[in-house]
Amino acid sequence: MPEEVFTAPLKRPAHVGEDWLEPKQTEYSSEEDAIWNDLFARQMEVLPGRAASAFMNGLEKLDLGQGGVPDFDRLSAELDRLTGWSVVPVPMLIPDHVFFWHLANRRFPAGNFIRTRETFDYIQEPDVFHDVFGHVPMLTDPVYADYMQEYGKAGWKAMRYNRLKALGALYWYTVEFGLMLEQGEVRAYGAGILSGPTEVVFAVEGRSPNRIMLSVDRVMRTDYVISDLQPTYFVIESFEDLYRQTVERDFDRLYRNLPPAFTYANSAIIDVDNVVHRGTQEYLLRGGRGSGAQPV
Ligand SMILES: [Fe+2]
Repeated sequence: MPEEVFTAPLKRPAHVGEDWLEPKQTEYSSEEDAIWNDLFARQMEVLPGRAASAFMNGLEKLDLGQGGVPDFDRLSAELDRLTGWSVVPVPMLIPDHVFFWHLANRRFPAGNFIRTRETFDYIQEPDVFHDVFGHVPMLTDPVYADYMQEYGKAGWKAMRYNRLKALGALYWYTVEFGLMLEQGEVRAYGAGILSGPTEVVFAVEGRSPNRIMLSVDRVMRTDYVISDLQPTYFVIESFEDLYRQTVERDFDRLYRNLPPAFTYANSAIIDVDNVVHRGTQEYLLRGGRGSGAQPV
């Protein structure tokens, strides 16, 4: 990364190098393996019929339910065979430019630690359950796997144009909170949705949130919520469609024309939107997380 480009000043732990990779994956205790198993079982109660089939197939191909936190080396060997990706352990959230560099080289950095019983329902920092259960099954899909690599390459470009926030919104509304159509039905493929129990039902079936067909330009101009359920989800036709929209768009031109701040509020519907579901926003209007409002 050239010196004039801003990179997040995260303090790198002494035991990791510039690639931020842990020398090896954590040895998990039996209690930590039990936490993985309980999280896994809880998700399997809500995912069938709501998660994209690419995700459900990925879980199976990688045999993620065999018990305990999966071994990254085993996953990487299987992923390498399927799409040429690997999973590498990192100690914490890593700087953007390092994250992009790993993605561009088909390596997915996954948090090494797992949440505790106290933080079972919600944690802010992505742990091994979010990263491996939520993200890794999708990397078995060849087109999605290519999209993630393109995203990593786009990241370096966004940093040079100082438009990381806009590209971050694309990641948020696809990789973390993306929905897709399958035989006319809405299904979830985003890891932020799939790794928690509440948002799966809310995103796919709730009447509160908007569901709008995705346009890369629109999404990159749209604000998002970090610590609550999303007021709006964007829906793709297919991974081919997402990949095409991303590689065919001239991001240099897009970044030059993007304003530095977001143009659209996260609950807005605009004239050009192709709306799948116009949300009531009642969850948000009643106060959202912490207010006691039902996520309907
Ligand atoms: Fe994530």
